[in-house]
Amino acid sequence: MTAARRIVIDTDPGLGEPGSDIDDGLAIALALRSPELQVEGLTVVNGNVEVDAGVDVARRLTERMGHPDLPVLRGADRPLLRDMAPVRALFDDVIGDRPVARTAPAERRGPTSPLSAAQFLVDITAAHPGEITVVAIGPMTNLALALRLDPAFAGNVAEIVMMAGSATGYAQNITVVGDFNAYVDPEALAMVLTSGAKLRMVGIDQTSRVRLTRADAAVLRRGDAFGRWAGECALAWIDFLAKAFPLRAEHRDACFLHDPLVVAAVIDPTLLTWEGAHVATDPGSELARGLVIADRGLALAPPPGPTNASVAVDTDVAGFGRLFLDRVTGTEPGAPAPE
Ligand code: RIB
Ligand code: CA
Repeated sequence: MTAARRIVIDTDPGLGEPGSDIDDGLAIALALRSPELQVEGLTVVNGNVEVDAGVDVARRLTERMGHPDLPVLRGADRPLLRDMAPVRALFDDVIGDRPVARTAPAERRGPTSPLSAAQFLVDITAAHPGEITVVAIGPMTNLALALRLDPAFAGNVAEIVMMAGSATGYAQNITVVGDFNAYVDPEALAMVLTSGAKLRMVGIDQTSRVRLTRADAAVLRRGDAFGRWAGECALAWIDFLAKAFPLRAEHRDACFLHDPLVVAAVIDPTLLTWEGAHVATDPGSELARGLVIADRGLALAPPPGPTNASVAVDTDVAGFGRLFLDRVTGTEPGAPAPE
């Protein structure tokens, strides 16, 4: 068997935090339950939740999954240049009142080390050049800070596989033209895109195709202790979305599995179809903030630039669904399949 691929997940996890997107936590769970991957650490960034809430979620999740010593590092508490308050207000206006946070700030678990997320990324990739893949499923602030600390990070990282943008068309995330990760910190994303690092991008055009339905949540709830808890969280999140977006059919009975698809792309790249592209974003544009242009050799004028990323243009939705449910449900191999 080939050696497990070593990864660090840069993430903004909200799993278990009422009213917060569960997809980062499920992505981490999928990674921790996949023998093809060796998770070396979680670097947490401001995004779906404030960074300290994200650190707490990550610590509780790693404990729950039997990895209490996995490094969890605190990263950026805001985007490089942007004010986060209007972003939270924008989403809160659309989503409405969130339930009260589960863990009071004073009771939150802290990081496993005082090292910053950016320093951890720089250090681990410098110590093992070409061996560590960063799976970036939050805003790209920590990665940009790592590049600022040491531009050699771009050459030392084996690959950055990121959830950002959209490769096959415009795709909206609630009220913004790009996906949330690109919208929150477009300057950081631009730094990553121009860094020279080997890049793979899974955009919201693909991740919106993979959904966890109420029926899938029922399957999770028939799994092991973690599966049961994940199923409860998924149902609570679907209920929340259905109430928050009564007019949106896609949220009535399902939630998106954006970030787990990115982890799956590292476990088994053949689940997606890839094409080379020149990927860019224009942080100077307010109207198009977070919009990512992925030119795949289509005739854009002026020609935008050389290929700097491999982008996902199609997804084996059923194949991903099987992989995700098999692993996250956590039933023993050979056990009867859940009905
Ligand atoms: O746009 C999708 C991204 O933002 C995902 O990483 C998800 O966590 C969401 O909130
Ligand atoms: Ca995320």
